[in-house]
Amino acid sequence: MALILTRQDVMQVLTMKDCIAVVEQAFLESDQGTAVLPLRTAITPEDGISLYMPAFLKNMGALACKVVTVYKDNPKKQNLPVTIGKVLLQNPDSGEVICIMDGGYLTAVRTGAASGVATKYLANDEPKMTVGIFGAGVQAQMQLAAMCAVRDIQKAIVYDISENAINNFIESLKGKLDIEIIAGKTVNEILQASIICTATSSATPLFNGNDVKPGTHINGIGSHTPYARELDTVIVKRSKFIGDSREACFNEAGDIMIPLKAGEITESHFYADLGQIVAGVKTGRETKDEITIFKSNGLAIQDAATAKLVYDKAVEMNIGTKIEL
Ligand SMILES: NC(=O)c1ccc[n+]([C@@H]2O[C@H](COP(=O)([O-])OP(=O)(O)OC[C@H]3O[C@@H](n4cnc5c(N)ncnc54)[C@H](O)[C@@H]3O)[C@@H](O)[C@H]2O)c1
Repeated sequence: MALILTRQDVMQVLTMKDCIAVVEQAFLESDQGTAVLPLRTAITPEDGISLYMPAFLKNMGALACKVVTVYKDNPKKQNLPVTIGKVLLQNPDSGEVICIMDGGYLTAVRTGAASGVATKYLANDEPKMTVGIFGAGVQAQMQLAAMCAVRDIQKAIVYDISENAINNFIESLKGKLDIEIIAGKTVNEILQASIICTATSSATPLFNGNDVKPGTHINGIGSHTPYARELDTVIVKRSKFIGDSREACFNEAGDIMIPLKAGEITESHFYADLGQIVAGVKTGRETKDEITIFKSNGLAIQDAATAKLVYDKAVEMNIGTKIEL
């Protein structure tokens, strides 16, 4: 029997705090050699792109594959969203598919969780901190939720080129996070925060790296293609650069690939994988004034760990529909 979990089922069982804990374990496994993480495979049918993201975490017993499609014309042609994701979870002992679950909400939470883990290890830890958020979409909401799970956050300032998106952001989070959330009027207002999350669809840098305060930690999660970047060369050069994976960063992240190609940095500027920081192989923040960047491209180990967590919780809470496939 396989368990089918809808978006609502996933939302019912998945919390940011639990997700951060399993994603941290997944990064640890990636450093300890017990994770299998092939590069994502892409197939491009005429109208879109279909990505296959498999992973296995031995210690966690999580074997999964996420299928994500991006079809730009879906809303107008098919009355469907641009991005659709589903996760297939298997029993690693038998190979049997034990669960198929919606992957939309799961992706947003696991992406937030990776930034949560990075922030836990890299950001300064002070009372009543402010978070600055660039972008006010779904991902941005989960970035903020993750920051609140790992630091004492008092206030968030959100900036987006769309006023509508900012209003929706503030409205959607009303009553959910016990903090003050305000709209930022200028880019520089966001840069006064000690933790910054960039979660936009912008292909060009969001701010001038010279304007970032010493001691800032930045989670850069958007625009992960070789030709697009949210972070300029100046801020990359001023920072200790940590990525979710060296391989993903040098194949997918314009934030580091563009300055590298221009000869403005060398590969050695990449300081560590997040797994190395979690495992203690490399030191995270060393001084109060250091600027740290966590570049997130999104790894299948995050999906596998989160899918296993969701499945276990759903079984425990008797949620979902069982069917014979
Ligand atoms: N790293 C990961 O694991 C991961 C996972 C999922 C999505 N993403 C990426 O996260 C980003 C956000 O995703 P989403 O689903 O929230 O998208 P979205 O389209 O819902 O939101 C993006 C927001 O960015 C805003 N924006 C664009 N340019 C801007 C600028 N210059 N300044 C401020 N705001 C700007 C847009 O107006 C929009 O509101 C995308 O780039 C997506 O590819 C990353």
